[in-house]
Amino acid sequence: MRTVTRVIHDCDPGHDDAIALLLGLASPELDLLGASTVAGNQSLELTTSNAIRVLDHVGRADLPVCAGAARPLVREPVTNVSGHGESGLDGPDLPPPSRSPEPVHAVDWLGRAISDGVGPVTLVATGPLTNVALLLARYPEVERQLERVVVMGGAIGEGNVTPAAEFNIWADPEAAARVFESGLDITMVGLDVTYRALMTPAHADELRGDGRAGRLVADLYEFYSRVHRRRFGRNGAPVHDAVAMAHVIDPTLLDTQLCGVKIDTGPELSRGRTNVDRWGRLDWRPNCHVAVEIDAARFLDLLVRRIARL
Ligand code: RIB
Ligand code: CA
Repeated sequence: MRTVTRVIHDCDPGHDDAIALLLGLASPELDLLGASTVAGNQSLELTTSNAIRVLDHVGRADLPVCAGAARPLVREPVTNVSGHGESGLDGPDLPPPSRSPEPVHAVDWLGRAISDGVGPVTLVATGPLTNVALLLARYPEVERQLERVVVMGGAIGEGNVTPAAEFNIWADPEAAARVFESGLDITMVGLDVTYRALMTPAHADELRGDGRAGRLVADLYEFYSRVHRRRFGRNGAPVHDAVAMAHVIDPTLLDTQLCGVKIDTGPELSRGRTNVDRWGRLDWRPNCHVAVEIDAARFLDLLVRRIARL
């Protein structure tokens, strides 16, 4: 039984990315090697700055942060201001970042870290998959060296940006297609499970009394939950990216099903749709472990307990 999983978090902070990063830091099952950032919820400059600001807040200015792709492979750059605000991390009052990112492109840093010979690496990708696609292009050997990729993205059912598509896949569908067509061991943590594990005001109240990280997560929740209340009329907010991180910490939180998944890179109406052949009707290569069930109570309990420890 392995004791610790070496993890790199590729992210676009983003409220739920920030919570996922904190969860990874707080979990002894993981050795978090660092974070790579990508444009998505906000510009690369802001997502990178936000990752560093979150790490500063919990005294982890030692953890490497490397900036990656500033735009999707093909599509026009997008942001998610309605979901995360102008800064990408609206709500909490965090000081400016204490440092710059590492002076190496994320794709090169990822390529070296994954082939460093120290041990297998799991990549948790919670933003558009642009960095991961570029990584495969620049370092093709990663396809056999990377232990697995756990992607927060996609949906068997309804999307959240369009009826067809979830934001991370929609933002860079060509990158997602490249990743899902590769030989990587992919787990897709989609909206089907993340929307079934809503953080509530009770969780935020509990966290608010639990130290610096707890207060930060409660403040992140306050902003993010207002978005979801306004948009979906829900009294709670999904913590999409933290579900992907939690799956690496405790794989039993999710049930997955090996399916063929193809990404729609067509015109706007179905752009970014993750077509999941859940019942094996087509002769698609089974290329992805798709999350189909979540133990929401155990996930939220793990999240609150671990953040409180940080
Ligand atoms: O659709 C949810 C995803 O989009 C999450 O990664 C969130 O951070 C947003 O980027
Ligand atoms: Ca994200």
